Amino acid sequence: MKIAVTRRLFQSEIDRLRERFEVAEWDSDLPPDPDQLRELLSDAVGALTLLTDRIDDDVLAAHPSLRVISNLAVGYDNIDVPAATSRGVAVCTTPDVLTETTAEFALALIFDAARQVSAGDRSARAGEWETWYPMRFLGRGVAGTTLGIVGFGRIGRNLAEMASALGMRVVVSDPAGDSAAYENLPLAELLQTSDVVSIHTPLTPSTRQLLDAERIGMMKDDAVLINTARGPVIDTTALVAALEAGKLRAVGLDVTDPEPLPQTHPLYAFERVTITPHIASATVATRTEMARLAVDNIIAVLEGTEPPHCLNPEVLERD
Ligand code: DGY
Repeated sequence: MKIAVTRRLFQSEIDRLRERFEVAEWDSDLPPDPDQLRELLSDAVGALTLLTDRIDDDVLAAHPSLRVISNLAVGYDNIDVPAATSRGVAVCTTPDVLTETTAEFALALIFDAARQVSAGDRSARAGEWETWYPMRFLGRGVAGTTLGIVGFGRIGRNLAEMASALGMRVVVSDPAGDSAAYENLPLAELLQTSDVVSIHTPLTPSTRQLLDAERIGMMKDDAVLINTARGPVIDTTALVAALEAGKLRAVGLDVTDPEPLPQTHPLYAFERVTITPHIASATVATRTEMARLAVDNIIAVLEGTEPPHCLNPEVLERD
């Protein structure tokens, strides 16, 4: 049985697959292009994919041998799950192990925006540090400010706990979220009242461009906007226009639309925007755990036991 692995990963996890299966590994840090992906997947029964691999119905139709797609991520907007379900392919993910790590990174971006860590670093590197400035890089502490969390799943909840411990007032907006400890507001009200807005929704048709021009316009002029979820939840064109108009005190983006963000993109021109390359889950421990879970998912599906995280277990029941 062949397993396709679409990127270079921890050798110990590849070895666990090799003990049981034939492994075709895409031996690069850059993704295969669509043709290379098709080639890699040919005759595979399992695929360990990344969020940059588009697995749509065409790809699934071209590879009827596939029985499991194991995505190295909690998000799965790169996979057409209903199509996989109807074709009998199990789709698995790696949640939980990255919850705290991702929430910590959102907090890091909140602090960065509040205290201009990256902006200060950029300025020092650019040779602008001539003296001690009493009136430059004046930030705003986070204690006593209101954090609005959009999407109250595992990561949003973890961030809420950390932010509360820092003395932030936390409000959330999630029609489906169980937020007993926090005020759950309609999105418009959250946007109007929060000093910091942090996005934690999955990317779905209903959250795509959730923060459009109108909703960004509802935010306080000096609010901070943080996104560690998925880039397309924010309308990038509207965000650039808002920044050009002087709106928002700072923006921290670990995810962008498009991604990667081209070097010439207007977002890079704003001193008050910090951009990181989708690294919120990037600690050694978390990425190791994600790889382990992704491999566990494949082994379990193909050995007929219960995978740790399957999005469409009905496929396994059918089997
Ligand atoms: C995910 O898991 O969906 C993140 O975006 C990468 O860790």
